Amino acid sequence: MEKLKIAGGYPLKGTVRISGAKNSAVALIPATILAESPVTIEGLPDISDVEILKDLLEEIGGKVELSNDFDMTVDPSTMISMPLPNGKVKKLRASYYLMGAMLGRFKKAVIGLPGGCHLGPRPIDQHIKGFEALGAQVTNEQGAIYLRADELRGARIYLDVVSVGATINIMLAAVRAKGRTIIENAAKEPEIIDVATLLTNMGAKIKGAGTDVIRIDGVDTLHGCRHTIIPDRIEAGTYMILGAAMGEGVLIDNVIPQHLESLIAKLREMGVTIETGDDQVFVSSSEKLKAVDIKTLVYPGFPTDLQQPFTTLLTKAAGSSVVTDTIYGARFKHIDELRRMNANIKVEGRSAIISGPVKLQGAKVKASDLRAGASLFIAGLMAEGITEVTGLDHIDRGYSQLVEKLNGLGATVWREALTKEEVEQLKNT
Ligand code: EPU
Repeated sequence: MEKLKIAGGYPLKGTVRISGAKNSAVALIPATILAESPVTIEGLPDISDVEILKDLLEEIGGKVELSNDFDMTVDPSTMISMPLPNGKVKKLRASYYLMGAMLGRFKKAVIGLPGGCHLGPRPIDQHIKGFEALGAQVTNEQGAIYLRADELRGARIYLDVVSVGATINIMLAAVRAKGRTIIENAAKEPEIIDVATLLTNMGAKIKGAGTDVIRIDGVDTLHGCRHTIIPDRIEAGTYMILGAAMGEGVLIDNVIPQHLESLIAKLREMGVTIETGDDQVFVSSSEKLKAVDIKTLVYPGFPTDLQQPFTTLLTKAAGSSVVTDTIYGARFKHIDELRRMNANIKVEGRSAIISGPVKLQGAKVKASDLRAGASLFIAGLMAEGITEVTGLDHIDRGYSQLVEKLNGLGATVWREALTKEEVEQLKNT
């Protein structure tokens, strides 16, 4: 077990290259199950969620190869519908995509209830509603979801909640169903378009991905193809926020600026200099940052995944800012840790109220989830003195080559093994 040590307070400058999108990767990899011949996904991020999914595909008999570090080729022809009730599936939330993909290919699956970040209740009722509408019987037996269908038939499915996971999972189950499926009130996130693009390259017939109505005409089989993943808008947004906090000119390379319009607008409102190119964004901080309010919304609104990092930036802004999370009302576990670092933040219901500016101070803090981790490494880079962040297993799920990328911008960040006493302390907290 390791901790991240950060010598903070120094300006950052230079170029950082963004990796492939985590939240696409975790759906694209299970989607390969649906093909009958090898699929190559280019440009995956170097994160633990990808490693775990690779192992899970191998557990069900797939042949998986990683080449050039980040390209994955999956031969799904030898896969079987092995039950995956425990173990690795519990380590990540996105293991729920194995349900849709295995149901679509084998008409049956047994998958343990997913793990992932603890952000309050994260039900999967809309996924199950979709599978049932397609003709599957779904039961929950001792913590595992059992899915069986004699055949899957297209259906009209209205999502009661706009859900990224349910939209993708229903697409996965429906591409090989008989007839037409219509998903209404679908989520519109760029990752959904990315998954639809891969499936279309595999021979699926999908229209409307990226809008709130998606139409899928089922086909009998899908074939292999090559696909390049989109850049990670949340990783890019994290580095933009860091640039806004400490940047003396940070160039974010391999980004789709249109995916980050809500963040760009808010940073400009704060007084941050932003210039956008085709696939680059340049960010420079300002001496005087203004307080702003944000409210997280489904895409293209302000992403909940950037709420925690953005809160850290707001500690530097003059005045009072209100951050409201309408997606995950309890996504505030980072706040106590930021307070240890001298932040002045109150939580009231679904909102955090940040009073600034304050100078953050280095401290020992713990990441309780992935984006809490991002908010803390940003805080560490802003703070005076040394910050130690534990809970790196969360950060490693989503930030590819973090230490290398931060140090490439002139930061002083390194990983250190935890002492025995620190391991004990962590177990008791
Ligand atoms: N919801 C339901 N029922 C469902 C599904 C969702 O009530 O069946 C609710 C959730 O509780 C939540 C809202 O709907 O309040 C939206 O959840 P959604 O299903 O869209 O979330 P998700 O698909 O489980 C993905 C990302 C999250 C990101 C959310 C929201 C992946 C693997 N995860 O989760 O990413 O926060 O969308 O944009 O794509 C992260 O990257 O740190 C992360 C947590």
